[in-house]
Formats: sequence, structure tokens, C-alpha cells
Amino acid sequence: MDLELTAEHRTIRDMVRDFAAREIAPRAAHYDRTREFPHDNVRKCAELNLMGVMVPEQFGGSGLDTISYALIIEELSRACASTGVIVSVNNSLFCHPVERFGTEDQKQRFLIPHAKGEKIGCFCLSEPAAGSDAGNQQTTAVRRGDEYILNGTKNFITNGVAADTAIVFAATDKSKRHHGISALIVEKGAPGFRLGKDEVKLGITCSGSVEMVFEDCRVPATSLLGAEGLGFKIAMNTLDGGRIGIAAQAVGIARACLEEATRYSKQRKAFGKTISDFQAIQFMLADMATEVDAARLLTHRAAWTKDQGGRFSLEAAQAKLFSSEVAMRSAVKAVQIFGGYGYMNDYPVERYFRDAKITEIYEGTSEIQRLVIATTLLKD
Ligand code: CAA
Repeated sequence: MDLELTAEHRTIRDMVRDFAAREIAPRAAHYDRTREFPHDNVRKCAELNLMGVMVPEQFGGSGLDTISYALIIEELSRACASTGVIVSVNNSLFCHPVERFGTEDQKQRFLIPHAKGEKIGCFCLSEPAAGSDAGNQQTTAVRRGDEYILNGTKNFITNGVAADTAIVFAATDKSKRHHGISALIVEKGAPGFRLGKDEVKLGITCSGSVEMVFEDCRVPATSLLGAEGLGFKIAMNTLDGGRIGIAAQAVGIARACLEEATRYSKQRKAFGKTISDFQAIQFMLADMATEVDAARLLTHRAAWTKDQGGRFSLEAAQAKLFSSEVAMRSAVKAVQIFGGYGYMNDYPVERYFRDAKITEIYEGTSEIQRLVIATTLLKD
């Protein structure tokens, strides 16, 4: 792995950095306050081909590598973490599994419009009693003729409010536990499919998290992704990639904390000096800068490993675990450097603080990442 970004990577990063500063950052506080799903941000990201970054061009994507994807999610999340996760879910959790496991017909019907950003996708794995224990799916899908009948409830579904299409995991044979889980592509408007509770959250407030309810919901049998019983492996493989996106989102939030705190420390005066003259502040900034770099390197290593082919669960879990904890630590320090102002919503650091927390929870909590890492370490 080359630690230097290529010229192409730097061009992509600089283009998205400039775009995010101009188009995304100025409205981040507005969306945070109103909780409105930022449709205009998605439209603008689609215009720049950011909704299907790693999808081959023949299927409407940009055909870029995973390091480019990590750079894009970092830059978007530095400006608005909600927009970062919206784009990440469409890329990693919707487009990837359709590209990897879908039929040619499914790719034509679903991958192309989602990779182009004409449609928005979501990923429905979590349930009220199946969060970390994702194998404990209570939603069922029963084959009847040329249809599946879905029953169950999914919760905390990112993008759910705005999604045109969902990948829904359900038990087709409960007796087989993991091997009895299947994945179905379900379109908005399928009979028996409705949105439930609209979630009010601590952070990433506008990412459209919602409950989804399936009551004798009928979907064509051709909606099956992969094969019956392959759903758990599809979910795990998809989440390995998704965790690189969340790691990059966390790096973006941590960098926002570092940059805002650095700027503020050079302006704020106390005891007749700017506070950046005090070692107490300098040491906090030094630790933040070191950890942001380390988190980005782990994230890029995971991205690079993924692009080599083969399993990258360990690298993705390490990147997600470390980067999310760095985001939280950086947010704590940034609020501390801002003092009382850091606690007020006049400055963005209180939003970063609220946004950072979820990176330690979704797409596998820090405890689940440690489990994945330890399992690999202790194997054989
Ligand atoms: N890739 C492929 N296969 C995998 C895999 C991977 N990364 N991880 C596990 N598997 C396979 C195993 O090899 C095993 O297969 P066999 O039975 O054929 O041997 C099977 O899956 C079961 O594996 P485990 O026994 O390890 O399964 P487990 O029940 O102990 O669960 C877990 C493992 C890591 C805890 C898993 O349940 C997990 O990742 N939980 C967290 C769920 C999660 O991340 N949810 C996120 C929801 S989506 C979201 O958050 C999106 C958002 O809002 C932005």
C-alpha cells in the first residue's frame, strides 16, 4: 500500500472538499435544526456522481476505488455528517449488495437508478430485538407461488423517510437461524409496506431514520437477492464495506472538530493571550491531529485491502472502531476548547459532539467491532 494519495485521489478530494464547503456546509445547521431530509444535497451529490462511487460506469456509477470513496465520505461528513451517512448508505449498503449479488435484471432495474442518484436506497437489517444480534431476525418472508409475503418491523432505518427502495432481511426458514435468512429488494409502494415511527435523534438528525412495517407485504419472488438462505452472508459482507464508510464519516467529523477548535483557539483571548498560547490547549490539539491522521490511515488501509479482493472484515472493524472513538474524543476536546460557547448552538462543535456518538453505534457498535477483531485474532 502506498501511503501517498495518487494525483487522481487528490483531485477528487479537493473537488469534493470545495463542493462541500460551498454547497453542503452552509445549510448543515439548518438541516440539523429542522430534521428535514436534505433532498437538495442528494441531488447535488448525484450531479457530481457521488451516489454510486464504486459502481462500474456501465451500471451508472463512477467506477472509482474504495480510497476515493473514503475521501468523498470524509469530505461530505466534515461539512455535514448527516449527508455523509445518507450518501454512504446508498453507496455501501444499497448499491454494493445489488452489484455483488444481484441478477442482471436487478442491476438494470435497481442498481442503475440508485448509482445515478435518481433513486435513494436503504438497508433494513435492524429490528427491535435484532440489533447487535443480527442473526435473530423476527421478520419473516414466506414463499407463496411467485411471491414472498413479508411480515415484521424494521427500525432505525437510515434514509427510510426518503427511500425508493429497501433491501430487507427476513427469515425464510427460522429453524436454520443464520442459514435461513434471505434478502429481498422491496420498492416503496409494495402492498402492505408502510413507514412507522419517525425517529427523533440526538445527532445526524436529518438522515431520515424511520421504522418500517411489513404487514402481509407482497413482493415478487424475483425480488430475492442472491439465493434463499444467503441473506446473513450478504448482510455481513455488505456491512464490512459499510464500516469503511462510517470510519470515513468519523474521520470527517473528527477533522471538523480539529479545524474548528484550532481556528477558535487562535482567536479567543484569556488572561491577556490567545488560548492557543497555553499548553493545555496545544496538547489537546496535538492529540486530536495525531489521532485524525491515524484514523484516516487505518481507514485507507481498510479501503485498500478491500480493493485487493478477499476478506477485509478485520481491517474494516479496526478502522471503524478506532475512527469512531477518535471522533467522539475529538468532539469532547473541541467542546472543551470552546468552553461555554462550545455548549451553545451558535457554534458547530455542539453538533459535531452530537453527530460523533452514532459512529460508535451504527453499522456495528464498538463492542461488535472488538468482537470481530478478537475473533480474527484468536482463530486457530
Ligand atoms: N462476511 C461473510 N460471512 C460472515 C461474516 C462476514 N464479515 N461474518 C460472519 N459471517 C458468516 C460466518 O462465517 C458464519 O457462517 P457459517 O455459519 O457458514 O460458518 C455466519 O456468518 C455466522 O457467523 P457468526 O457465528 O459469527 O454470527 P453471530 O451471530 O455470532 O454474529 C456478529 C456475528 C459479528 C455479531 C454480527 O451479528 C454483527 O455484525 N452484528 C452487528 C450488526 C450490525 O452491524 N448492524 C448494523 C445495522 S445497519 C446500520 O446500522 C445502517 C445505518 O443505520 C447507517
